[in-house]
Amino acid sequence: MSQESNFSRYSNVFQTRDGSFTVVHPDCGEMFHSDAGALLEARSLYIDSSGIRDSFSDPTSKCISVADVGLGLGYNAICTVDAWLSSMGSTSLNICSLEIDAQLVSTFLSAEAPWMINWDSSWTRIIRGFYKVEDNRYELNYKIPSTTRELNWKILLGDALSLDLSMESLGYQFDYIWQDPFSPSKNPGMWSAEWFEKIKKSSSLKVKLMSYSVSGVVKNNLKEAGWQYKKIPTTSQKRNWLLAWL
Ligand SMILES: C[S@@+](CC[C@H](N)C(=O)[O-])C[C@H]1O[C@@H](n2cnc3c(N)ncnc32)[C@H](O)[C@@H]1O
Repeated sequence: MSQESNFSRYSNVFQTRDGSFTVVHPDCGEMFHSDAGALLEARSLYIDSSGIRDSFSDPTSKCISVADVGLGLGYNAICTVDAWLSSMGSTSLNICSLEIDAQLVSTFLSAEAPWMINWDSSWTRIIRGFYKVEDNRYELNYKIPSTTRELNWKILLGDALSLDLSMESLGYQFDYIWQDPFSPSKNPGMWSAEWFEKIKKSSSLKVKLMSYSVSGVVKNNLKEAGWQYKKIPTTSQKRNWLLAWL
């Protein structure tokens, strides 16, 4: 498929209330983000509520590893990079983005995707640094000049339920998980006990899993897979989000 037809598949952009753009999925019709704001959701749920900034500035932590479950338009991942770049610590960052949609990934990697209209040029410059390692794996390495702080960002293409997320394959375990697939009714496999069991095996003991869904089925499946959870208050119109840990 040509670059242009990739783009047109994701050209149905919609400006959310914080000014950032999201997309209506061409197949399932669900928006990638709530109308309240794509950037707002990434920053307030995943970055602020998780406390990841404290980990970035913790002098005892050398490296923080994040599972970005559903790269989508890349907001959660790029906001993680942005928070890391603006932190003062000496911590390095690993991000492992999982995405099943190959056309979406190639649109993202162009760094000229329709939803990136008003993205900061420092973000698109970073995204241009990705290179292909294998057919289903892209990678980016970035070192902050005059420091020992490094970013390793991988994108693994495929069904997250069957991707190899082992320590042997990745070289690390997840300290934070941005659990952000489409809703449990549209995308049940990604909220199943099987999935939560799998991601648990790839997580460190201090892991924090953050999610927008507080539905009963999600809580039951987390519990079945050995996770603990609690609802946390939000800074947006939605009343609660979910924090889970081991
Ligand atoms: C709501 S969007 C994610 C938004 C994204 N986190 C962001 O910041 O823009 C959900 C994403 O999960 C992906 N997804 C759905 N099922 C998946 C699966 N089984 N494995 C990997 N990715 C999946 C979808 O293709 C979609 O891009």
